[in-house]
Amino acid sequence: MFNQIKVNTSTSAAYHYNVGTDLLDVVCDFISDEIGSAKVFLIIDKNVHHHHIEKINTAFESRFERIVTYVVPPGEKSKSFEQFSSIVEFVLNQGVERTTPLVAIGGGVIGDLAGFVAASVMRGIPLIQVPTSLLAMVDSSIGGKTGINHSTGKNLIGAFYQPKAVFADLNFLDTLPEKEWVNGLSEIIKYGMIESPIILKQLQRLISENGFTNPVQWQPIVEQSAQIKVDIVSRDVNEQGVRAYLNFGHTYAHVIERLGEYSNYSHGEAVFAGMYGAVSASNKLGASIDLNELDHFKSLYNFKLDAIADHRDEFLSLMRKDKKAKNQQIRLVLLKKLGDPFVEEVGELDLIKASWEDVIHHFS
Ligand SMILES: NC(=O)c1ccc[n+]([C@@H]2O[C@H](COP(=O)([O-])OP(=O)(O)OC[C@H]3O[C@@H](n4cnc5c(N)ncnc54)[C@H](O)[C@@H]3O)[C@@H](O)[C@H]2O)c1
Repeated sequence: MFNQIKVNTSTSAAYHYNVGTDLLDVVCDFISDEIGSAKVFLIIDKNVHHHHIEKINTAFESRFERIVTYVVPPGEKSKSFEQFSSIVEFVLNQGVERTTPLVAIGGGVIGDLAGFVAASVMRGIPLIQVPTSLLAMVDSSIGGKTGINHSTGKNLIGAFYQPKAVFADLNFLDTLPEKEWVNGLSEIIKYGMIESPIILKQLQRLISENGFTNPVQWQPIVEQSAQIKVDIVSRDVNEQGVRAYLNFGHTYAHVIERLGEYSNYSHGEAVFAGMYGAVSASNKLGASIDLNELDHFKSLYNFKLDAIADHRDEFLSLMRKDKKAKNQQIRLVLLKKLGDPFVEEVGELDLIKASWEDVIHHFS
């Protein structure tokens, strides 16, 4: 059983985001019927390979004459030039045609990296996203952003490249470590804050009843989250307008990640803390959002920001350097009220400094 969400894009053909369980046969059907290739490239995260390769092979071997698999070491370090060129070399050396599909099976790292390979080889071969982490299911597999990191910053090299389809198979989540569930949770909380506050209540109930042990129960939340991302990116494929709302909490988060040298805090932790900053700034500008909305989830996160508090004097300059800043002005996604976001160039530096003090206070 699975449900489909149509993703409209103005730049390439519409595609479907599919969510459900036992989807690997559906993936194979889709490739056979829609792409018609006898050969497939599977680019797989090493941890996912370890846990799931048998069922992946069973599904693909019964359908395709040639399955060529490349296993990627797990973690953000793999979003590198070295991995990118190594996969491109591999794909070209193994023989590829413009219609040979590349299936990215893993979390956001694999989706971004393999997506950029698919965008680059022969100026684009068919890409199928099979997200296996919660974050990838609700966020990174949707919207067509692909790319790798550079020593000067994250995601600085890449392309917008839409997949032919996305298949979020909840069975993969059976083996996802709890800290990765929590990492993905932040983006779902973000959707609740910017678009659909009811998700916050549903999440609380789901976690108290099931924890992170029963992925199938998560289907409605994953589906609603994906729908929100789909709606936003369909309205703004190339990130000129409303797509900015997806950066709620992220301007703070990027500073936290940077000061933590991209290893001390996960993206999800940084986003969770960053949302306190964005709520604090929103309230200082007249909103009255109850921080309890975030506090309900706080015990799931296990980190402190004491170490970055010593770098207070760098907060604003790093915010000005954010990829989303314009002319070095700090642009924040704020809320008028829950579910009602807006983007503001905030010139009142004291207000931003005070919002940072609130962030530090909550995580010390
Ligand atoms: N393209 C976009 O729009 C977009 C949006 C948000 C984030 N991102 C990117 O996504 C990346 C983060 O994604 P992520 O959090 O999925 O990280 P990730 O891909 O590193 O996966 C997190 C960890 O979970 C493991 N894992 C994944 N699925 C598993 C499974 N089913 N069972 C066991 N282990 C599993 C991985 O091996 C890894 O150790 C970052 O690079 C970020 O920049 C991209």
